[in-house]
Order: sequence, then C-alpha cells, then structure tokens
Amino acid sequence: MDRIRIVGGQELRGVIPISGAKNAALPLMIASLLTDGKLTLENVPRLADVNMLIRILGNHGVDHTVNGKRIGDEPYAGQTLHLDARNIVDTTAPYELVSRMRASFWVVAPLLARLGVAKVSLPGGCAIGTRPVDFLLMALEKLGAEIEIDSGYVIAKAPNGLKGAEIDFPKVTVGGTHVALMAASLAHGSTLIKNAAREPEVVDLADCLIKMGARITGAGTSTIEIEGVTRLSGATHSVLPDRIETGTYAMAVAMTGGDVVLENTRPDLLQAALDVLEQTGTSVTTTNTGIRIRRNGGGIQAVDVTTDPFPGFPTDLQAQFMGLMTRARGTSRIKETIFENRFMHVSELARFGAHIRLEGDTAIVDGVDKLKGAPVMATDLRASVSLVIAALAAQGETIVNRVYHLDRGFERLEDKLVACGAIVERLSSGEG
Ligand code: UD1
Repeated sequence: MDRIRIVGGQELRGVIPISGAKNAALPLMIASLLTDGKLTLENVPRLADVNMLIRILGNHGVDHTVNGKRIGDEPYAGQTLHLDARNIVDTTAPYELVSRMRASFWVVAPLLARLGVAKVSLPGGCAIGTRPVDFLLMALEKLGAEIEIDSGYVIAKAPNGLKGAEIDFPKVTVGGTHVALMAASLAHGSTLIKNAAREPEVVDLADCLIKMGARITGAGTSTIEIEGVTRLSGATHSVLPDRIETGTYAMAVAMTGGDVVLENTRPDLLQAALDVLEQTGTSVTTTNTGIRIRRNGGGIQAVDVTTDPFPGFPTDLQAQFMGLMTRARGTSRIKETIFENRFMHVSELARFGAHIRLEGDTAIVDGVDKLKGAPVMATDLRASVSLVIAALAAQGETIVNRVYHLDRGFERLEDKLVACGAIVERLSSGEG
C-alpha cells in the first residue's frame, strides 16, 4: 500500500494547476446513462473514484474512450472522456462496486428514468456519519417510482415512466438534488424541487443536462423547475474547477507561508472559505487565470468557522481548515453541521502535537507554536489531506499511511506540491 513521506518546513512558491471537480465529474458521468447519444466530458480529473465509476458504468454497458493531456503538458487540461450508453446491458449495480463509492448509488435515477427499472446496492463510501439515502428514495417515490428494499438492494420500478411532482427536501442534499434533477429530466410533466442544493456541482450538472436537451430553470437557487422531455441527446461539456482542491491548496499555502497562484479556478466557487482565509491573515487576490494566495512573515490568526451548505463554508474543507488552525495564534472553534462523526482527523492531528478537544459537533483548537512530524494514518478523503497540510508545516518527517484515500480525490497531489518546493515523495508498497 502506498505511503507519502513529507519533510516539513518549506514555504510553497509557484503555480498549481487545479483539476476538474471530482464531485461534478461523478454526476456528469452518471448522466451519460440518460441518453443513447454520446456524452463527451472535458477536464475530467484522473482519480481513483473516476476510474471506479468508469468500471461501474461499464458494467451497465456504457462504452468509454479516454484521451487528454497530463499535468506538465502545456497547456494543462484534464482528460476527455467519451461515454456512450446506447446499449444498456444490465440495470443492476452490484454491491461489490457500489460499496466502494457512495456516489455510484446515483445511477438509480437515470436507469429508472430511461429504462423503467433499476436495482442498486445500498452505498458505501467515506465512513463519515451514517449518510442514509432516504431523501433520494423519497424524491424518486414522489416521481412515481415503486421502491422496495431487498437483501441490501434498492429495487426501483416505474414501468409506465416517471411523472413530474413537487419534491420538498427536508434538508439540503447534494446527492438528492442530483438524483431529482436527472430523474425529473425524463419524467412526464413538470417537477418543482424545493430546498434544492445550490452547490456549483449541481449547477454544472444542470448546465450539462440543458445541453443534452433538458428543460431546467433555477439551478443554483433553492427552487429548481424541470419540464420533462421524452428523450435527451448527447453533448459536450467541460467539468468545472474543483473548489475543494482549490481551497485545500490555498490552506496549504496559508499554513506554510509563501506565494502560489492556483490556476484554472474561480474565487466565486469558494468565496466563504476565501473570506475566512483572509481573516487568518492570508492575502487572497484574483488573477486573470485563477487565485493568488500569499502569506509572508505574520502568524496565522485563529478564526471560528461553521460548515454549511453552499454558499457557506464547505464541510469538505473542514478538516483542512482544522489542520491550519492547529498552528494559529489563539483558539478556534470549528462547528460541523453537515455530517456527524466528521472528526476522525482530530486524533491523527494530535499526533503532530496539536491541541484539539471535541464538544459535540464542535472542535476547539488551541493553536500551538510548533508541530512535529509523525507517522499518521489517512482515514477518509478530506481528513487525509488535512494531515498533509499539518505535515508541510511540521518539523521533521511525516509518513502518511493509507494514501489510497488521497488518490480518490486529489490528482497527483505530490507532484503539484513538489513543483512549489515542498519535500514530498510517494513510497510505493514495500519501499522505505
Ligand atoms: C456530497 C459530496 C460530499 C459533500 C456533501 C455535502 C459528492 C460525490 N459528495 O455528498 O463530498 O461532503 O455533498 O456537501 O458530491 N442525508 C440524509 N438522507 C439522504 C441524503 C442525505 O439524511 O437521503 C444527509 C446526510 O447524512 C448529510 C446531509 O444530508 O448529513 C447532506 O448530505 P448530502 O448533501 O446528500 O451529501 P452527498 O451528496 O452524499
């Protein structure tokens, strides 16, 4: 199993190209199941989760071809993925595949909407809280699906097609909104989604569906209207920049000090997080191609943060921000409102000498002057990168074990950091 070795204490200086967003690429790839035309996705990141979803789609009969540039090629662009779901050979998504990645459960919506039937294993994914799918199933039932749960599988049927309806989510859910958007696009009549997620990835999916012929208005607000159509066609769409990757590197620079331009990204995708970073004493400016992050000399100020659905501070940056706060001047209170138990990084950060205590849904971080490198273990995708952030500023050597979590969501993390002066290397299985 790969590990990453980091020697802390180097400032980051240079340019980091930001990849396409994992959390947009996944629902966009799943949307290929809605059409017998060819869906071409550009700027798709090279990630383990993307490869896993290609396998899952392949199991349903989706053909794929890939081409594109690699990091280091000029100009930087992600891969281009051509997906062709003309011949669906299987409407079952088996446990062995779905249990590896939670988002793959969303295939239930396009399979049901286009073929009238889907059998999908209940999901797995990151171990952060219980993460049920009740709202997703509620949305499909509102659209007229018959849902049965049998031996760990959801069996959804709509032999006469789905029917437009009003779906009012009791809580903001990104996955629920994706599922409702895809299913309603091919339903008979109109659908109103209330309390819809406003995340940029929802807007990206809606933009792509519109290119495919869907009739959607209001994506990016809490109320989305969809007028169902009988058929969707192929399209070409470029995946939006990864706001979580952007925020992660911004926090890494705030942590080590230095001066880095994050390229191919946009501040409006993560304004709440950038505002918080400025309060910590980090300079954030917009450039023609991205965002410039600088911190010189002065220390890191402690700031309190509460995670919220977009446009609030993202839960997917909570662990990274906690990493930053471990070295702040003063005390920071970090409240997690989206997922319970999303604090697995706390005990690992403590191994660097961080002072963090938990009070229910809030972590109280007393900043310390120095962190010391340590062997640590990646527990989930975002938690693991908070350990990298701590390691970049810690004295001495850190070994991060179980980096497969990082490979799920961060494209060539070590290359991007090394290009900015960090001392980071991957130790392949059996090495070092
Ligand atoms: C997506 C993101 C994930 C991010 C999360 C919140 C992807 C691939 N993943 O996850 O990185 O952290 O949004 O921004 O895009 N809930 C229920 N019942 C449901 C569905 C959700 O109770 O049926 C709860 C969840 O447990 C959680 C909250 O609603 O407390 C929000 O979850 P949701 O927005 O659905 O997260 P995901 O779409 O799974």
